[in-house]
Amino acid sequence: MTDRYDIAILGGGPGGYVAALHAGARGAKVALVEKARVGGVCVTVGCIPSKALLDTSHAYWMGTHAAVSGVHLSGEVDLPKAMARKDQVVDQLVGGIEQLLKARKVDLLKAEGELVSPTEIRAGETSVQASATIVATGSAVALPPIQGIADAKPLDNVGALSLREIPKRLIVIGAGVIGMELGAFYSEIGSDVTVLEMLPAPLAGSDPDLVRLLVKALEGHGRFKVVVNAKVTAVERRKGGGVAVTAEVEGKVQTFEGDDVLLGAGRVPSLTGAEKAGLAMGKRGVQVDDRMRTSVSGVYAIGDCTAASFENRAMLAHVASTQGEVAVDTILGDDTTMDYGVVPTVVYTHPELASVGMSEAQAKERYGADVKASRFPFRASGRALALGESDGMVKLITVGKDQRIVGVHVMGPQASELIAEATLAVRLEATAYDIVATIHAHPTLAETLREAALVAIGRAVHVAR
Ligand code: NAI
Repeated sequence: MTDRYDIAILGGGPGGYVAALHAGARGAKVALVEKARVGGVCVTVGCIPSKALLDTSHAYWMGTHAAVSGVHLSGEVDLPKAMARKDQVVDQLVGGIEQLLKARKVDLLKAEGELVSPTEIRAGETSVQASATIVATGSAVALPPIQGIADAKPLDNVGALSLREIPKRLIVIGAGVIGMELGAFYSEIGSDVTVLEMLPAPLAGSDPDLVRLLVKALEGHGRFKVVVNAKVTAVERRKGGGVAVTAEVEGKVQTFEGDDVLLGAGRVPSLTGAEKAGLAMGKRGVQVDDRMRTSVSGVYAIGDCTAASFENRAMLAHVASTQGEVAVDTILGDDTTMDYGVVPTVVYTHPELASVGMSEAQAKERYGADVKASRFPFRASGRALALGESDGMVKLITVGKDQRIVGVHVMGPQASELIAEATLAVRLEATAYDIVATIHAHPTLAETLREAALVAIGRAVHVAR
């Protein structure tokens, strides 16, 4: 038994640890229960390590494809070394979070936890009592109904982020975010990657024009291939090594041979104890309202374990963190709600794909003929040309006479960074005129948003109208 806390949090991922830091900063007495390392999947086996590796592969790719810029390099990627550097990045971040928790006087209990009542989390042998509890237990890899999938022990986000050798041929099941990012990483460092996707296009929910451009760019690198309408039905790891992945491709059975197989076919909520504690469940996790309240008074839930919804229901670290802040503010008496209207999403391939707000189709469904899609290609950007990364475009979706920005979609270099300005624009209901009136530094990639806004208002400068 410990002292009574104001807030006890189960799960220390980007939902739970951010909630703990926020609550600690607001002076609450907080306990955080985490069985593994703080930071959760995102910091330890997801977003951060995959980006550390993708930065390695991008540096390698750029270095070995820069002859045109007068740089003649060859060589190969030392994967164990790249993994060691990735581990170092993770260790540094985990250490930083632990220090922050200490500084905010959050008690970190490193134990397997379970919500046993609205006011109690059992952490190993310890009973943690609190006035309010937050469930932030995250998600786990989904095992789809594919024959032999469990026995084949496919790589998942954990396995793929700790390989010691580069597989010559890698088969990826699912062209979702994980399949595309990790597939792109391995193809950039030398694997021949085949991504099998059962739907007619990869990255369901993303702007179809930009997805087409992205696939073209990735396939143009030469070692990456996406096969759509390909439903994987069986996987076998062969005794002598290698894997055989069977798929129905356009209705015909086909077998793909590889050295390894990576599973990226979705994730499912982790519900440690949530059901036992009587929390109502939605289709995809704990049911919550827009203040992250569950069906049980005093119990809140955030992040991947919840059924909280926004367009396409992606499981995203930045959504979980924001939900954590909203849950804490609600517990501490503030009138705050989650707003899922403006959530940026990013796919960290090279080039990157980033989106915020409505797609062109959604906007047309809502606003009809009042919608305009304005495009600016990166090949018309001096900065993108100088970088040697001119694939892709910015697509701006505006509505009405004043060209109010309701969506922005970027496929190109550093789209993940460019989407921040766009996110603010959509949130503040800015117009294309506002973006045009904002002086952007030259030459920058950020100018491409202003150029697209110039197209929107009929004043295109660096492209034909
Ligand atoms: P996902 O749901 O994004 O994609 C899974 C894909 O697998 C779908 O396209 C689906 O049609 C396909 N699929 C399923 N069964 C299949 C089969 N038998 N044969 C062929 N294709 C099949 O899931 P993913 O990529 O595993 O990611 C899980 C979650 O993590 C998502 O919510 C994602 O948004 C999130 N995530 C976000 C990242 C980011 O924001 N950069 C990075 C990684 C993950």
